[in-house]
Amino acid sequence: MSAPISASASAAPAAFANENGRRQILVTSALPYANGQIHIGHMVEYIQTDIWVRTLRMHGHEVYYVGADDTHGTPVMLRAEKEGITPKALIERVWKEHKRDFDSFGISFDNYYSTDAEENRVLCDSIYTALQQAGLIEARDIEQAYDPVKEMFLPDRFIKGQCPKCGAKDQYGDNCEVCGSTYQPTELVNPYSVVSGATPIRKTSTHYFFKLSDPRCEDFLRGWVSGLAQPEATNKMREWLGDKGEAKLADWDISRDAPYFGFEIPGAPGKYFYVWVDAPVGYYASFQNLAGRIGVNFDEWVKPGAKAEQYHFIGKDILYFHTLFWPAMLEFSGHRTPTNVFAHGFLTVDGAKMSKSRGTFITAQSVIDTGINPEWLRYYFAAKLNSTMEDIDLNLEDFQARVNSDLVGKYVNIASRAAGFLIKRFDGRVQDSAMNHPLIGQLRAAIPQIAGFYEAREYGRALRTTMELADAVNAYVDTAKPWEQAKDPANAVALHETCSVSLEAFRLLSLALKPVLPKLIEAVEAFLGIAPLVWADANQPLSSAHAINAYKHLTTRVDPKQIEALLAANRESLQPGAEAAATTAAAAPAKSTKKAEAKQEEPGVISIDDFAKVDLRIAKIVDCQAVEGSDKLLQLTLDVGEEKTRNVFSGIKSAYQPQDLIGKLTVMVVNLAPRKMKFGLSEGMVLAASASDEKAEPGLYILEPHSGAKPGMRVK
Ligand code: MSP
Ligand code: ZN
Repeated sequence: MSAPISASASAAPAAFANENGRRQILVTSALPYANGQIHIGHMVEYIQTDIWVRTLRMHGHEVYYVGADDTHGTPVMLRAEKEGITPKALIERVWKEHKRDFDSFGISFDNYYSTDAEENRVLCDSIYTALQQAGLIEARDIEQAYDPVKEMFLPDRFIKGQCPKCGAKDQYGDNCEVCGSTYQPTELVNPYSVVSGATPIRKTSTHYFFKLSDPRCEDFLRGWVSGLAQPEATNKMREWLGDKGEAKLADWDISRDAPYFGFEIPGAPGKYFYVWVDAPVGYYASFQNLAGRIGVNFDEWVKPGAKAEQYHFIGKDILYFHTLFWPAMLEFSGHRTPTNVFAHGFLTVDGAKMSKSRGTFITAQSVIDTGINPEWLRYYFAAKLNSTMEDIDLNLEDFQARVNSDLVGKYVNIASRAAGFLIKRFDGRVQDSAMNHPLIGQLRAAIPQIAGFYEAREYGRALRTTMELADAVNAYVDTAKPWEQAKDPANAVALHETCSVSLEAFRLLSLALKPVLPKLIEAVEAFLGIAPLVWADANQPLSSAHAINAYKHLTTRVDPKQIEALLAANRESLQPGAEAAATTAAAAPAKSTKKAEAKQEEPGVISIDDFAKVDLRIAKIVDCQAVEGSDKLLQLTLDVGEEKTRNVFSGIKSAYQPQDLIGKLTVMVVNLAPRKMKFGLSEGMVLAASASDEKAEPGLYILEPHSGAKPGMRVK
């Protein structure tokens, strides 16, 4: 079971495998912030990581995939305050939501933990202390924006004001969304604190810095960068590092002043670790927590010289933290360093940034709620993913087409075509000699190549190769025509062969798809009556010794209605400009207004503006006649205070005698489009009450205003 070791060089020495070819591998995904919901943009990353992890597990390696919620920092603290709960209560609630979302999407974390954990506090303390002993921590006084009302220092994104260039109001501290210019927070005109509205003042405080500018750090990072897998990442690093002697790396401010939700720095009361210090350490805390429970020696995995590999999957936006700070923190605190960091691009939906007003800011929960199978998204993302940092687009039409044609049309179809005959005619058992068919040989030979594509994070290529093979299998079935073979008992052997070849081909295609579609393939394994598939099973064909089980429907098509429902569930009508703010973590306190706006969007609920579109007027019934040839209608002549009267046909004959209505006042809709009827033009509608079940409770009652109302008065 020797695994293809990825061709790309690693930052640490080449992968070590024991005598059985078994590697030890620690894998992480970025830790999502605990102040928001998981959306499908996040899911790109967790799905990408999960497919990789499953690929390696299927080789039999010792793989641990750990994650956690990133719980600390100002946004979480302020949001909890806004909701009137403690930060701990907030992060506990969000943890459950995140965990549920990951489970639904089949993300197979071996441990999903929290950065607000005792293991993490201890690890942070020891890493910090080691860095201090190495002479890489320095205290320095700095001046910063301070909210004198809220009595807290303000991160840049909590300060707003007028753009110094174009004068636009309510712009963030570092760039203007109206004119696009960038500037320093101190340049804002009329700045104010987003937290209290107060004008920030400048205040001095002692901060702790990690001396990234130390030549030791620079030297180390120059060496470490040469092992990065992605050329784009290497280029970015070279840019950040500059030429030798250029001293481009700045020291990193790793402390924040109280009030702050986080870990207090040892020996520095009132000072807390900046959230980006304890977040990556959270990878280790999660792993340590797992290791303790399953009896793995944590130190052996994380100390220098560890044989285990360590990989971090991240988005391109957080490369800096993972390729500069994190490896340097590890290196100089007596730990091993990451084997590699794999960055992916950002998700767009229908070619644009995810948007709340368009309904494309799609939460994981809404996917589940609308009955969309998360494995369809896994498949679609995988089909688009490769090893680069390119952005990927979810095109909703293409999504439906691809899932329906690939998964249902090409793949599942093979099983449904083969299984029926095999069960009915051959006791559910394959023909053993069919396992030597050249088509089977072709598929079997492709499996290691496909597994290699997955390991190289070229998922698109893995799936293209798989679907080409599915095409070949379908072509084989189309040529053999089992439905024709079945007509003549003399063809029984040939029919048995056709069905056996296609079912074994289906098994091999299932193996190729397993990292992407774990749940579906579990159902396939049950159907075929086989043990969970691993890569080595490419050479373990189905055998006549075991019968397959009855074929049950494996998956359904995507219904366009589900996509409509998905967009509707995520659509919010926001004020222009509010959208960008609502998508940033800092804007979380705006929750209550967002909720109020979302409420309007509930089905059946309209806004006052919607109601105002209906022009209702008091109308005087100046004449009323029966309509010849109609047993339902009365013809009304109505005065609504206009120059001319209006003609309206109304279905109220069952309830009123024409002469009883003449001279009465009622309410009519005057801006309804005129409707041409058999008997003439109807220029509006009068309002009448009736029971919701008119058959059970007949009766019609036109509305009549209290006395004093005059024709033409507006009803609102
Ligand atoms: N908390 C930090 C990570 C700390 S890691 C020690 C963070 N959290 S996040 O919730 O904003 O993002 C989590 C991951 O999801 C990041 O890797 C980020 O790049 C990724 N994505 C967030 N939005 C995304 C898209 N629209 N598309 C693809 N990935 C996206 O950053
Ligand atoms: Zn501007």
